[in-house]
Amino acid sequence: MTATIIDGKAFAAHLKEDVARKVAILKKDHNLTPGLAVVLVGEDPASQVYVRNKNKSTVAAGMKSFEFLMEDTVSEAELIEKVKELNNDPSVHGILVQLPLPKHINEAAVIETISPEKDVDGFHVINSGLLATGGKGMVPCTPLGCLMMLKDVLGNLSGLDAVVVGRSNIVGKPMAQLLLNESCTVTIAHSRTKNLPEVVGRADIVVAAVGVPELVKGDWIKKGATVIDVGINRIEKDDGKTKLVGDVEFASAVNRAGAITPVPGGVGPMTIAVLLQNTVTAACRQNGIDEPA
Ligand code: GUN
Repeated sequence: MTATIIDGKAFAAHLKEDVARKVAILKKDHNLTPGLAVVLVGEDPASQVYVRNKNKSTVAAGMKSFEFLMEDTVSEAELIEKVKELNNDPSVHGILVQLPLPKHINEAAVIETISPEKDVDGFHVINSGLLATGGKGMVPCTPLGCLMMLKDVLGNLSGLDAVVVGRSNIVGKPMAQLLLNESCTVTIAHSRTKNLPEVVGRADIVVAAVGVPELVKGDWIKKGATVIDVGINRIEKDDGKTKLVGDVEFASAVNRAGAITPVPGGVGPMTIAVLLQNTVTAACRQNGIDEPA
């Protein structure tokens, strides 16, 4: 048996088209152009690539993109002042402060300054609290994208056994909450989990988000399970060149899973598409407009 390969690129392209369609309706019927502000501190090359891609995708969807580049010597107070300015700007509906931030800045303090309604990353404690209690907040982009793909593959997730490997605030914890909200039986596994192969082997759904290259072995996977690989790890090959691998050993998992996301081309492309969708949702809520269907 060979798994269906879940095409994240195609999925993201569809979602972006849908966002662009909604933006066109909001402009025409409500004179509203959703705006996304991205703040990047410092010159981390990977972050610069993400921010450039976010900017391009935002503009391509017909939305306003605001980019703020700050020196890595910026003080926490100055960054917080910038966030407050964006909170008060009615043309900005979504605010994203690219992480990680330099060590001298308290990330939590910055995130908690973002107005929860504009927190399109869904990282604010108000939004994580709303997600945990079944409320209507902003949901983190990567796990929401994973859930969309899972529903597309499986339809109703109710009653399925799901294992999330990884417990980060950005992916693991919100992913577990989303699956719980879909009535899955959810296990969160992590670096201290005993008998990880056995825990993974019980799951109908495996979401791997630990950041350890190919930690989850193919022969752990239950036959026919759906595997979502959030990992993006750059590793050096024997010939000295580098390649991207996920947190799942794809070559063997593909022979056990029913469906699986590849790396690259799986979860990665979805994240920005969901960010744009979250910005549209935020813009509609802030203006008391029903989101176009
Ligand atoms: N850095 C890596 N991924 C993300 C993300 O989804 N949001 C933010 N703000 N920073 C990140």
